[in-house]
Amino acid sequence: MVRFFSHLVRQNVRRCVPSIRGQYLPRQYQPILHMRSLHDEVPSEDLDRDSHEDPYAQHSNNNPLLKEAPQGPLVEDTDIPIFFRTKTQSSFDNAFRFPAPTPPMHYEPDKVVYIQGFLRKRKDVGSRMTFCDVDLGRTYPEVQIVSTWEEEGSYQHVAHQDLKTISPHSPITAMGTLKKSEKTSGSEDSTKQRFDLKLRHIKALNTFPKDIIVTKDALWPPKFRHLQLRFDPDLRDRLRFRSSIQFELTKQLMSRGFVNIETPLLFKSTPEGAREFLVPTRRPGYAYALTQSPQQYKQILMAGGIEKYFQFAKCFRDEDHRADRQPEFTQLDLEMSFASGTDVINNVSKVIEKLFNHNKCFAKGADGKSYIVYSENEVESLKENPASFSRFGFQHNAGNMVHMKYKDAMDQYGTDKPDLRIKTPWMSPIHQITSGHGSLFHEFVPQLTTLRNFSIEGVKLRLGQTPDAARKFMKNFMNNLPSTLNLTPGCTPAVFVYDSKLPLNGFSDLGEEGASVIERMSSSTWPKCVDGDIIVMHARKTGRHVGGSTDLGRLRTALYAAGVKTGFIPADRSLQFLWVHSFPLFTPDDGKDPGQGGAAGFSATHHPFTAPQTAKDVDLLTKGNPLAARGDSYDLVVNGIEIGGGSRRIHVAELQQYIMKDVLQMSNARIADFAHLLEALRAGCPPHAGFALGFDRLVTVMFDLPSIRDVMAFPKTNKGEDVMVGSPSKVTPEQEQLYHIAQHPRFKKKSQSAGGKAEAKQQPEAETETSNPAADSTTVASQEPAPTPEENPEETKILEQPTEEEEAAKVK
Ligand code: AMO
Repeated sequence: MVRFFSHLVRQNVRRCVPSIRGQYLPRQYQPILHMRSLHDEVPSEDLDRDSHEDPYAQHSNNNPLLKEAPQGPLVEDTDIPIFFRTKTQSSFDNAFRFPAPTPPMHYEPDKVVYIQGFLRKRKDVGSRMTFCDVDLGRTYPEVQIVSTWEEEGSYQHVAHQDLKTISPHSPITAMGTLKKSEKTSGSEDSTKQRFDLKLRHIKALNTFPKDIIVTKDALWPPKFRHLQLRFDPDLRDRLRFRSSIQFELTKQLMSRGFVNIETPLLFKSTPEGAREFLVPTRRPGYAYALTQSPQQYKQILMAGGIEKYFQFAKCFRDEDHRADRQPEFTQLDLEMSFASGTDVINNVSKVIEKLFNHNKCFAKGADGKSYIVYSENEVESLKENPASFSRFGFQHNAGNMVHMKYKDAMDQYGTDKPDLRIKTPWMSPIHQITSGHGSLFHEFVPQLTTLRNFSIEGVKLRLGQTPDAARKFMKNFMNNLPSTLNLTPGCTPAVFVYDSKLPLNGFSDLGEEGASVIERMSSSTWPKCVDGDIIVMHARKTGRHVGGSTDLGRLRTALYAAGVKTGFIPADRSLQFLWVHSFPLFTPDDGKDPGQGGAAGFSATHHPFTAPQTAKDVDLLTKGNPLAARGDSYDLVVNGIEIGGGSRRIHVAELQQYIMKDVLQMSNARIADFAHLLEALRAGCPPHAGFALGFDRLVTVMFDLPSIRDVMAFPKTNKGEDVMVGSPSKVTPEQEQLYHIAQHPRFKKKSQSAGGKAEAKQQPEAETETSNPAADSTTVASQEPAPTPEENPEETKILEQPTEEEEAAKVK
C-alpha cells in the first residue's frame, strides 16, 4: 500500500517538477522527496537517518544543522533540518520520515539534540514561555522542553506556536539545545540525569485524541491494554526487566553448553497430566493439541543425541485460574542427557545464583519501587542509598540452598512449598502434639474433630503483643477465615493464648495433664512461651501425606500473612529458595485433574515419565504398593511459590510401558498415544533428566507482585479471556463447517428446550450468548473434563468422521 502510494505521489511530482535534485521546491512537496518505503534504495544525502555512514554523525557538533539556532526572522534556509521545514503535522509522510534521536550517551549541556517521545502536560507561563515534559523512555535522561521567544517570526516563535498546537500525549520529534536542569526534586527516578531542552523545532508525529481523558489516577480497563501500558511506566519497566532476565538466562545456559531449540506448539493430545487445548483442523475428525509443555519433544531430543537443550517455551493448559496461573504461559525448559537429577539441580542452582547476583539488571527499592539498573554508575548511585537495597545484592549461594524431602516439608510446614521466611521467633514449625486418639486431651477432642483416626498438631505464633491484643487478633482472624483455606469438614482449629494471669496459663480447657504437655513443649519444642504467645492446635487424619498442603499448613501461612498485614510481624522481603524433592511417584485421583485416565485410581504426581527414585521404589511398584513409591522429582520453591519443577526420566521403554500399562492401568489406546516416545526410548535413549522454570512466576517473585499477570504484556483474565482483542471469539457457522465442529446433540437438545425452539431456529447456534466464554471457544476448544450441560449448554465437540483414506477404502 505504502509503496504504491509513495510511487504514485512521486510520479505526479516528477511530472510537475522536471528536475527534483538541487532545486527549490514548493514547501508542500518537500517532505514527499524525503519519504521512502522500506524497500527503496537509500536515496539521497539529505535523508537525515540514512545519509551518514556513522549513524551518530548527525549528532556530532560539526554537523552544521546542529548549530545554535540563529535569532531573527524565519527564512527558507538549509539551516533548518529538512524534516522540520514543512508545516504539515500528523500527515502520512511525517509518520515515516523523521530524524533519528540522539543517543543518551551524547546528552551534554549545550549540545544540540534530536528527541522523540510522548509529550506530557504543557505548562504555559504567560504568552512567551512554556514548559513541557517529554517521556523519552526509560533509557533516556529526563527532559523538559523549555520554549521561549523574543522576536515574532523567529524559529523560536514558530516552534513555540507549534508546541502549543500539539495535544498532550501525542508522539513528537523535536530539536533543541540541552541545558542543565534546575529542577532537582519531584523526579520519578533518582538515578536519572535531568535536562532542559531549549526548543528550536518541534513536530507532532500523530495526534492523541481529545476524547481519551487522561487523569493522574486514571485506571484503564483491560480492554485498553495499550493505554495501561502507555501510562504505567512501572509496567513497561517490568516488561523491560523481563526481557533482560531472559537475555541473562539465555547467556548463562549457552555458556554452559545448552542449545536453544524450538519445538512445535501444534502437538497431539496425550494424557500427560494437565488439561489441554485442542485445535481443530480442516481434516474431518482430526485436531492438534497445544503443548502443555515441550516434555515429550525434549525427551525425544535426548534420544536424538542432543546433550543439553533449552528453550523459552510457550505452554498451554486449560486449568482453573489462580493468581499464579495463566492458560498460556512461558517456561524456561531444559533437559540434559547422561545426567541425573542432581546434575540438573546443580546446574539450575548455579544459573539462579548468577542471575540474582547479576547486579546490572535488577534492583528493588525498600520504597516498593523497582529499579532497572543499566550501568555500573547507576549501581554505584543506588549503593549510596542502602535503603533501596533490601532485595538488591541478594547473595544466594547455589551451594547453600536448602534441600528438603517432600515428607519433611509436609510434616514441618504443612506444605510442599514452604516459605522459609515464616520462621521463629514469629512462627514455629508444625509439631505433633499427640498421635493416635489424643487420649491426653480426650475431654477436649470433640471440640477439635469428629475424625476417628487422627493426630493433633500445633504451631506457636508470637506477635509480641499483650494477651488481650493477641486474643483480639485471633478473634478477628477466626471470624474472617479465608474460604480458600478449605479446612477438612469436621475439623476445627483450637486457639489458646498464653496468659500467666489465668489458671493453667490459659490452657485450662485442656485439663491439667494437657496443659502440662504444652508447658513441657514450651521449653523443648519451641521457644519458651511468654505472655501473648498464641498456640493453634488442629487435628489431621493419620496416614501418608497426599497433595500439596495440610489444613494446619494453610492456617500457618495465613496466620503469618495476617500478622504481617497488621504490622505485628515485620515484613521480610528477602528471597528464600529451597529444593523440595522425593515426592510420591503417584497421587490418588481427586476427580479434578485429568491425570492419565488410567483405571488404577491414581495418577503420576509430576508426569508419567518420572523415574522411580531407587531400586526399592521400583520394587514397591512391582510388589503392589505403588502409592508408597517415591519419584526422582524436584521442585524449586521461593517464598512459598513453586517456580519450577523437574525430574529424572524413565529412559528404558520397557519400564515406561510397564508403568503406563500395569501400574497406571491405562488403556491400550491411551498408551498408543505415546508410541512416538516409547519408540524413541527403545532406540537406545541415554539416561536424562530435566527441569522447567515457570518464567512468569520467576519474574513475578523478583518484583514481589501478587499476580503473574503483572509481568505479562497481554495476560488473560480469570475467565481465560483477552478482552482487548476479544478472544476467545465465537465460531462462525462457516468455521463450524470448515473445521467440522458441531454441538454435541445432547447439549443441542437441552439448549433448544431451555431457550425456546423458535428462537433457536432463527439464530445460528454458535452465536447464542454464553456465560462461560472460555468454554465457548471452539477455535481452540478446551478438552476434558466435559462441563455439565447445566454449566455449559453450548458444549462443542469435534465430530468423529472417517478420514479421507477410510472413505476411499469404503468406496473400494
Ligand atoms: P510443571 O508442570 O511442574 O513441569 O511446570 C513447571 C513450572 O511451570 C510453571 N507453571 C505455570 N506458570 C503459569 N501458569 C501455569 N498455568 C503454570 N503451570 C505451571 C510453574 C511450574 O513449576 N514438563 C515439566 C517439567 C519437567 O519435568 O522438566 C513441567 O511442565 O512454575
